[in-house]
Amino acid sequence: MAGEVRGRVFRRAIGRFLIAMVVATVAAPALLPAQPSQRAERDAAAMRRIEAESFAAIRADPGLMTVVREAGARLFAEHCAACHGADAAGGKGVSSLRAGSWRWGGDPETIVETIRVGINASHRDTRMSQMAPFGPRGLLTRPEAESVVAYVRTLSDPAAAREGPAERIDEGRAIFASDCASCHGADGKGKRAVGAPDLTDPTWTHGGDPEAIFASVWSGRKGEMPAWEDRLGPAERKILALHVIALQ
Ligand code: HEC
Ligand code: HEC
Repeated sequence: MAGEVRGRVFRRAIGRFLIAMVVATVAAPALLPAQPSQRAERDAAAMRRIEAESFAAIRADPGLMTVVREAGARLFAEHCAACHGADAAGGKGVSSLRAGSWRWGGDPETIVETIRVGINASHRDTRMSQMAPFGPRGLLTRPEAESVVAYVRTLSDPAAAREGPAERIDEGRAIFASDCASCHGADGKGKRAVGAPDLTDPTWTHGGDPEAIFASVWSGRKGEMPAWEDRLGPAERKILALHVIALQ
């Protein structure tokens, strides 16, 4: 009698053990964190979708945007931070990517194209832009260059306008209209077609003090941004464009 009870208890225990095993086998993969290989597969699938989808579709997909955020920070640190700075705020001669002051445009399509072809780079489709040197070619005399600098400062700094002197600023305004407006626009707000920066905002790539502005005008500027088409895949370039936009 006692042996029969022991046998039933034992069989029930075995039964429970087997059920637990089955449950564990079925449920475990869903409960455990993804294995590295599964994760790589999931990331690869996300990369294929990022490559194929429009920017609007990527932005509307929280799952893809998680990949964009993770991969974007990593790719930026690896490939872009050396020049643009870890915080993307730029430095001497390198544009800030977080000031919203875009030379070529701040929409994802334009940014991804800038990344693909570079600026003054060796890529056949590269964007080309240059601030002409006005001094060495005798296009402006030194006093004329100083006048135009005095005027340019007033575009972003009301205090500079009050400092004057007014005749010098007026002369600079006239020089600006004839020699600079073709690229920087009559209002100084820049022209994206030629990559000429906005001179009315407080963001400067080469410096906004009178000496730095004079050097830009006198000696010219020609920054180089590498092309990434051969070094980063299309999905990676799209991720970087979205990453940069998210920094604004
Ligand atoms: C042929 C087109 C062109 C003309 C003409 C031109 N610029 Fe520029 N300018 C540019 C471009 C492009 C840049 C950006 C160069 C770079 O950083 O690589 C620039 C940059 C500058 C900068 C530096 C801005 C910064 O963020 O540091 C100043 C200042 C400037 N220009 C002033 C002038 C003035 C003043 C004139 C007229 C005397 C003038 N430019 C004429 C195209 C032009
Ligand atoms: C070797 C230095 C260097 C590296 C590396 C670099 N850049 Fe640049 N980048 C520049 C310079 C310099 C400019 C400004 C060019 C000019 O003066 O016209 C620029 C301009 C840009 C612009 C144009 C901004 C505008 O106003 O339209 C974008 C976008 C950009 N970089 C993104 C990137 C991204 C993303 C990476 C990483 C994949 C990167 N850059 C890596 C030097 C670099």
